[in-house]
Amino acid sequence: MPSQLGSAKSPQHFSSFFFLIFICWFLFIYLFVCLFRHVADFQLSIASVIENSSGDCLAHDLHLQAQQLAERLKCDSVVSAISAGPGTVNFTINRELLVKTVLQQVWKDGSEYGVKSELFSTVPRQKAVIEFSSPNIAKKFHIGHLRSTIVGNFIANLKVALGHEVVRINYLGDWGMQFGMFQYFFMLCPFLLYMICRLTLYVIVIQGLLGVGFQSFGNKEKLKSSPLQHLFEVYVQINQAAEDENIKKLAKDFFRKLEEHDEQTLSIWKQFRDLSIEEYIRIYKRLGVHFDEYSGESFYQEKAQEVLKMLEDKGLLQKTVYELIQSVRALYLTFQLHFKQDKMSGLKGTGIVDLSEKKDLSTFSTVMRSDGTSLYITRQVSPSVLIASHFARQLLNMTFHNKSCAIANAFSDWNTPVTVLCACFLIISFRDLAAAIDRMNKHSWDTMIYVTDKSQSNHFQHLFQILKLMGYDWAERYVLKNPNYILVLVVNFFFLKNVYNMYIRISVKCSFEENLLLVSIHHHAIAHIIASRSQYGTADLMMFFCFSSATKEIQDPVETAEKVGLAALIIQDFQGLLSSDYQFSWDRALQSRGDTGVFLQYTHARLHSLEQMHGNAELTDVNVACLQEPDAISVLQHLLRYDEVLYRSSQDLQPKHIVSYLLTLSRLAAVAHKTLPVKGSAPDVAQARLCLFHAARSVLANGMKLLGITPVTQM
Ligand code: ARG
Repeated sequence: MPSQLGSAKSPQHFSSFFFLIFICWFLFIYLFVCLFRHVADFQLSIASVIENSSGDCLAHDLHLQAQQLAERLKCDSVVSAISAGPGTVNFTINRELLVKTVLQQVWKDGSEYGVKSELFSTVPRQKAVIEFSSPNIAKKFHIGHLRSTIVGNFIANLKVALGHEVVRINYLGDWGMQFGMFQYFFMLCPFLLYMICRLTLYVIVIQGLLGVGFQSFGNKEKLKSSPLQHLFEVYVQINQAAEDENIKKLAKDFFRKLEEHDEQTLSIWKQFRDLSIEEYIRIYKRLGVHFDEYSGESFYQEKAQEVLKMLEDKGLLQKTVYELIQSVRALYLTFQLHFKQDKMSGLKGTGIVDLSEKKDLSTFSTVMRSDGTSLYITRQVSPSVLIASHFARQLLNMTFHNKSCAIANAFSDWNTPVTVLCACFLIISFRDLAAAIDRMNKHSWDTMIYVTDKSQSNHFQHLFQILKLMGYDWAERYVLKNPNYILVLVVNFFFLKNVYNMYIRISVKCSFEENLLLVSIHHHAIAHIIASRSQYGTADLMMFFCFSSATKEIQDPVETAEKVGLAALIIQDFQGLLSSDYQFSWDRALQSRGDTGVFLQYTHARLHSLEQMHGNAELTDVNVACLQEPDAISVLQHLLRYDEVLYRSSQDLQPKHIVSYLLTLSRLAAVAHKTLPVKGSAPDVAQARLCLFHAARSVLANGMKLLGITPVTQM
């Protein structure tokens, strides 16, 4: 009996309870809109809720209730009409109020529109140190560095816009083994060659490999008349000559001297470094990027010694790899494999820090080579895995022994175990430890962000584990994965694979080398755009643009094309999650319609020239009644949402929210531009429309600048 009563009553209870919940919900939304937004049209879809929760009968019921609800709700100065649709209650917001409020706000806040929103009022202002780009001086500036540069720049821009204090650091790889590849430093650095040529630093040129190259293949007359062209010729020739053993030896000697801190070598190295930084600054400027500090690895060379001492004092530094090598040796002997005792001694005393909980060396980091010099990263592996992997290789070697002598030779040499050892250990540069400690002491940051490649995440994991063992509790927070504290923003560096391929193709044609990549990407974009509008081929233009900075024949078109090219690159890259992989396509990136950076630039330029053509808009003259068309309202409603988008990006540091917002804004503005002409309209209508387009352009420009794009005013 009680159960029958219960079941008879429950639908009634249920529907009135449901009804009450809905009333409260509508009221809450309504109040929220009135209080915080004042303006916005929205439609509440009851039908979708009903469909998801209950059956058709209930849907019908609630439909009626929606009608009743709509009848009961009253309009006021914010909501101008309330109506019930099929399963919906529609609130029409006072459009004049919408127009007035949005236009006024955009006008008043200017470049701070959106960031002054209430959404950010409770977010505490912080100091953030952001390390990004960080190329290696003697190696090529590869695509990963370019991506780190644009991502880091975006994060820094966003943080600054939101009122945080930001320190931008470029942690240059300016010390280490790469200087052993001295010849590449000269040969693969045309920027440097250009600088050398420009500053006529013949002394440096002659002292190094290029000097060797220049002496053999160079011509001073040609160098004077067309320096870049001639240096490229020399450069191509020394490239071939680099096969020569003597030239290789020359390079090795240089590196050895550098390691021994030979004064003259150091001073040459310093000049390379200074020149490279100067050149990098020039490139960064073209990308619209700047740094507050260039604190390269060399800077921490001395401080690293202190860290090493601290590790020793705290009993954290162990030199036990020797034992490990002994075990490998034992295994070698067991299987009667070739083992060169003398080469093994080089590894004796390599410094490691045990990171395992049980202190059984199951996880450890190598921080120092046996000769006391520091190394940088690869990955960690426990000794047993190390031995196993080594063994696997040996077995592989035995299996293929008869088939491939080359493989067999490689594996039977002691160099192989060295390679295996080096590749399997996580080698933490204690310069990185020193840098982290120094940054905390110097900046007392609240947030520290490293914008780096996926392959380095293990390195940072270990870096902060060691810092934690050293007693730095701030590092512990990284280990505990507090994302807003220390963040290693892992970006995927392979996204531009086919840009790279295209580059290689072009470089083969033009005899350029890989590290022209950065300039190539830029120039390729320019060339692509201009080639599509002229009789020249892309490759011809590539050649031309590579030298155009020296000839300075074209000013504005190149600059504009460069900004458009960069926008194309940034928008294509920022459309997805930063950690996801995708196929980059210039054809897609450079379309003037569709979701591209070119489209954003094009929209900005059009809106700008509209303002130029009709004189600047004056907000005081606006007759809001002239902006009631649906296309104008759509633009204004969208402008209203800018703060929400900024908020989302500030939370997860993903630029994609801003990108999709700007693309929608551009689409809406393009439609409005078509349907709401300024020319030929009555003066107050024209003035109101100009104000609308001014607001759209202003927010578009703000968003583009955050992403690292310089809006163009003509295209
Ligand atoms: N220079 C390094 C590279 O090109 C990146 C440096 C990353 N930052 C760091 N603090 N370790 O791979």
